[in-house]
Amino acid sequence: MEIARLQLEGGLDEPDAPHSPTETSVTDKFAFAFDIDGVLIRGGRPIPEAIEAMQVLNGKNDYGLKIPYIFVTNGGGKTEQERCIQLSKQLQIEVSPGQFICGHTPMREMAEIYNTVLVVGGEGEKCRQVAEGYGFKDVVTPGDIIKYNPDTTPFRTLTDEEHANSRTRDFAGVKIEAIFVFADSRDWAGDQQIILDLLMSKGGVVGTRSETLEEGPPVFFSHNDVIWSASHEHVRLGMGALRCSLEAMYKAVTGKELETTAFGKPQIGTFQFATRLLQQWRRDTHGIDAPPETVYFVGDTPESDIRGTNEFNKESNNTWYSILVKTGVYQPGTTPRYVPKITVNNVLDAVNHGIERENQRSQKKLFKEALNFTENRLNGVAIKDDLLTPTPGTHIIQNPVDSL
Ligand code: G3P
Ligand code: MG
Repeated sequence: MEIARLQLEGGLDEPDAPHSPTETSVTDKFAFAFDIDGVLIRGGRPIPEAIEAMQVLNGKNDYGLKIPYIFVTNGGGKTEQERCIQLSKQLQIEVSPGQFICGHTPMREMAEIYNTVLVVGGEGEKCRQVAEGYGFKDVVTPGDIIKYNPDTTPFRTLTDEEHANSRTRDFAGVKIEAIFVFADSRDWAGDQQIILDLLMSKGGVVGTRSETLEEGPPVFFSHNDVIWSASHEHVRLGMGALRCSLEAMYKAVTGKELETTAFGKPQIGTFQFATRLLQQWRRDTHGIDAPPETVYFVGDTPESDIRGTNEFNKESNNTWYSILVKTGVYQPGTTPRYVPKITVNNVLDAVNHGIERENQRSQKKLFKEALNFTENRLNGVAIKDDLLTPTPGTHIIQNPVDSL
């Protein structure tokens, strides 16, 4: 409505007329949520249209309108703070942790439940630091276990740096209560060996073996993307592939099924988390208290971004509108397994589509209001002066908005 209102008040030109707005206002009607890899960033570098897309959201549009936005990535491996600093540089805007969720962000809620946990993945000690920052009290890494018993992984020896960073500990009798894969494993063979050992242990006690092989701790993955979009021309294997591999390996070794849990998109919980984050972000930074009517979710992976958005849309009180871009996992020309509301070339087109759709919606609403007003007045005149046939519901003006 801001768009139409500003136009009506004479403050704005028609959208296609050249225009340089001098003032900006913030819309409370709609917002954007962005996936990162394959939409904004690829292989550590911004996708060319991403920087302009951010500028458009920050008011560089025909309406001088600022549109609130958040980021929802399945990626991770560093603190939210660190990732936001990196994203700010890449996108040339200020990104706050208050508008950012990564795959492992919801795992912070598990810190109260488990005491000693194994944290897998990521560079060096980063994921241990993330987990401790979330409040996990006793965080073990695969490096700690290899340092305790180097025979654990016959084909992996810790580097000097890893050896220095890994903690010295006597693991005899230590019970690992849960396993969290925070980020992509840098050593699939070693990490899977250690996870498998724990899955087959007696209640997670390092070095033991259960008779049933199914008394191990639960395993949580921060997301389930089998493939993702990195710097290579073709998609790369992701954490979901490790999950498939681990489940298959457990079955091959024990003959039993392994059930694991994944966070991240497309899980509904992640979208509920995103809803709360967006609500708080809009309240804290823009003083907006009500939820937006529409959230435009821009993603490149049908299985996580589009599926999650579409499913959440069915249960959410507001509209979650899925937009698929062609700059990442989705391959143009193929049929996506989960169908978006619209497919566009890139993130800039996605932002412009959302703004234009809102413009049309607000104009349609204004037309309707104007028509109702006119009809009411005409009906009033008709009854008073007995000039028109008093047939209830009869319209003497055709409704032009139906064709919009
Ligand atoms: O490892 C990250 C990747 O699987 C997906 O990240 O930003 O596309 O959700 P994103
Ligand atoms: Mg992506």
